[in-house]
Amino acid sequence: MQNSLWLSNINNISSSKVANNIDSDVCIIGGGLSGVYTAYLLAKKGINVALIEAKDAVGIGTTGHSTGKLTPQHGLVFSKMLKTFSKEEVRTYFDANWKAINQALQDAPVDLYQNVDSFIYSTTDEGKQTLQDEFNAYKTLDLPGIETTETELPFSVTGSIKMPDTYQIHPTNFAIHFAKHALKEGAQIFVRSRVTKIVMDENYVLTEDDHRVSYKHLVLCSHYPIESIKGLYTTKLSVERSYLLATKTSELLKGQYLSVDSASRTIRTALISNTPYFIYGGTSHTAGTKKNTQNYYDTLKSEMTSVFDLTDPTYCWSAQDPDTPDLMPYIGQITENESNIFVATGYRKWGLSNSLVAGEIISSAITREKHRAADIYSPSRGNFGLKFIRALKILGLVTTNLAGGYITRIEAPKCTHLGCKTKWNEGDETWDCPCHGSRFDKNGNVIEGPAVYPLKLKK
Ligand code: FES
Repeated sequence: MQNSLWLSNINNISSSKVANNIDSDVCIIGGGLSGVYTAYLLAKKGINVALIEAKDAVGIGTTGHSTGKLTPQHGLVFSKMLKTFSKEEVRTYFDANWKAINQALQDAPVDLYQNVDSFIYSTTDEGKQTLQDEFNAYKTLDLPGIETTETELPFSVTGSIKMPDTYQIHPTNFAIHFAKHALKEGAQIFVRSRVTKIVMDENYVLTEDDHRVSYKHLVLCSHYPIESIKGLYTTKLSVERSYLLATKTSELLKGQYLSVDSASRTIRTALISNTPYFIYGGTSHTAGTKKNTQNYYDTLKSEMTSVFDLTDPTYCWSAQDPDTPDLMPYIGQITENESNIFVATGYRKWGLSNSLVAGEIISSAITREKHRAADIYSPSRGNFGLKFIRALKILGLVTTNLAGGYITRIEAPKCTHLGCKTKWNEGDETWDCPCHGSRFDKNGNVIEGPAVYPLKLKK
């Protein structure tokens, strides 16, 4: 198994398992940034919150495998979103992220974040044209952005758009900070407690140790929602896997970078225990479809050592991101009819700022205050055509792998979510499911849902 830079030397909260039946006003499943920030905002309003995390600690799942970029510059999102959403809606998306970041930072100590500029850049003529289209969207939407070819990168670029006054964080420490403050405000946070069943008719969830957590409102922040049948999330989300490396470097960059060329790359630095690290990543593919994933790490390693003249990485990790057909995350009521169940997912690769937006939208909905961005993020929004095309693509993947699951079970274990054939991931030493992104360690234990039960492995 590979290891993330963010998971070394962290001082996590001390919490215990769910050890008996519990009553709560709001039960939150998932202790990543979405879950802990939602818990923090609700607990501050005096609401009785119980957050349940399956892993040993908070902020160590998807949050702890991110890049730690806290910015509303989400790649080429604005020009693409303008093809589906109105100008006002896309501007609302930007404003929601910008405001949520700045609001959260008001409640965080200054040593928990760094102010940096965000850049999207190209090194090819094709990429330069794509950047031009994106910059036109910046002008249409009146977004803060500057065209420049001046960067700190050790190669020339054909273009770039700089968004000033954005941030970078240590994502796990950031989540821990809000978890600690949620606890201070009276929230209960439980770890090592996997939810295996949601009984919606009777408003409770069941943990793997058969303890009930009753709720008035339920919030699913477990990345890929474990309740994925209601609202048809199994057909509305695709899952991408990408790779990251970190090694020691001599100096910190003033910016954080993302290339828009076809082989996209992400670049930033971080100061960890007074040591500067260089973080380099990219090379994505549909999760669970590749066996030789070590190749992806090797490609990045070779580029990092040759282009940036750095030593071999000391940390390598991969990240998995659910993606929506129209690029807008699903944040809000899980369906129009379930007014007390909320979901936050589909952040693409921009989960940190969207987690903060999720905290605001969901906590506002629970306290009956309408958030300005609630409608555009609503999981019940339109764009049926795009959803239909995505559904067909995912159903094709599911059908192929479901059939494979029954036919060739001897080679690879069957996923415990809906029975697709898993694939062995050599680089990370995990069993990955291509259908909805469940992951299992080499012993079959669940690393990532929507599956909640371990694999049955043959000895
Ligand atoms: Fe759904 Fe595996 S994640 S079948």
